[in-house]
Amino acid sequence: MMEYYLTWHNQAKKAYEQAISISMPETYLTKPNGIVFIGMGGSGIVGDFVVALAFDRLNIPVSSIKDYRIPSWINEDTLVISISYSGNTRETILATLEALKKKSKVIMISSGGILKSLSEKYKVPHINVEKGLVPRAALPSMLFTVLASLEKLGMPVVSRDEITSSIENLKLWCSSDETLKESTDIAELFRNSIPIIISCSRFTPLAYRLKNEFNENSKIPVKVEVVPEWGHNDIVGWEKPVATSSMKCLILDCNENMCCEILSFAGKIISETGVECKTLKLKGKSILDKLMYGSLIGGLASVHLAKLRDVNPIETKSISEYKKLIVKLISIS
Ligand code: PA5
Repeated sequence: MMEYYLTWHNQAKKAYEQAISISMPETYLTKPNGIVFIGMGGSGIVGDFVVALAFDRLNIPVSSIKDYRIPSWINEDTLVISISYSGNTRETILATLEALKKKSKVIMISSGGILKSLSEKYKVPHINVEKGLVPRAALPSMLFTVLASLEKLGMPVVSRDEITSSIENLKLWCSSDETLKESTDIAELFRNSIPIIISCSRFTPLAYRLKNEFNENSKIPVKVEVVPEWGHNDIVGWEKPVATSSMKCLILDCNENMCCEILSFAGKIISETGVECKTLKLKGKSILDKLMYGSLIGGLASVHLAKLRDVNPIETKSISEYKKLIVKLISIS
C-alpha cells in the first residue's frame, strides 16, 4: 500500500498523458449548462476535488454526487463524468443510467467493469485508468484523467504549468524524509484516539479525503469540521465536551487569507479543553499542489497508523459486506 502512494507522481503523469491524447466527440465541445461528477468513496472524492479546483475558474455550476439518484436539473446539456475505479459500484452505475436516459453528455472513467461495458453499449467515451491498484490509492490516476479531459473539452480547472509542477512536486515529496516524518508524526498523534480533522471550506474535500483514508486504511472513526461553519455550531460543543481524552485534532492549514486566523482560533478553543492539536501546513503554490500534498501525507499517515494498530490497510471487509447489500437492492439488467 505504501508503494502505491510513493509512486503517485508516476500515476499522475501517465494518466494525464494518456487522457490528453484522447479526442472527445464533437458534440461534447459545446459549453454545458453544468458539470456533474458521479462516484462513491475513493472514486467519488475525485469529483469533490474538481469542485474545489473549479471554484474560481469555471463560470458554470460543478457538483459532485454520491448517490444512486441525480438531481432533476440535469439534462441533455449537462456534462456528466462517472467515475468508479472498479467500474462495478452500483450507486454510480444507477445514477449514470439515469443521466444516459436524460441524454446528458456522459464520460465514464474506470479500470474496466460494468461501466466500461455500458460505455460500449451507449457509445459514450470511456477512459481506462491503471489497473491493479486499490481505488483510494488510485487518486492521481483518476484525478489527472479528469483534469486532462476537462482541458480537452475547453474547460481547464488548472493550468498546464500547475499540472506539470504538481507532478514534479509529488515526485519530490514522495522521496523526502520530511514527508516520512510528517506522516509518521500524524500516525503517532492518532494512535489510540479519535481523530478530528479541521479545514477551511475550500479544503473540505481534503478533510474528507483524510477522514476516508483513516476510516478505510486504519479502520477508525473520524470527525470532520470545516471553518467558518464550525464557528456557528461545533464551537458550542466545546463549551462542555465529552470524551476529550480520546480525541486528537489535526488542522489543515492552507496558508490562505483569513483561513489561518480562523483555524488558529479553532485550534485554541479546542486545545483549551485538553485535546492535543497538530497543524499540517499544506505545501505547494496551487490548490492542486495543496490537495495532492495533503492527500499524500494523509494516505501515508493512515497506512503507518494501520501498521501501529496491526490492521491490514488494503482489506475493507465491511465495504464488501455493504456492497453485497447494495447489489441486492440495485439490480442492473
Ligand atoms: O477506496 C475504496 O476502496 C472505496 O472507497 C471505493 O472507492 C468505493 O467503495 C467505490 O468503489 P469504486 O471506486 O470501485 O467505484
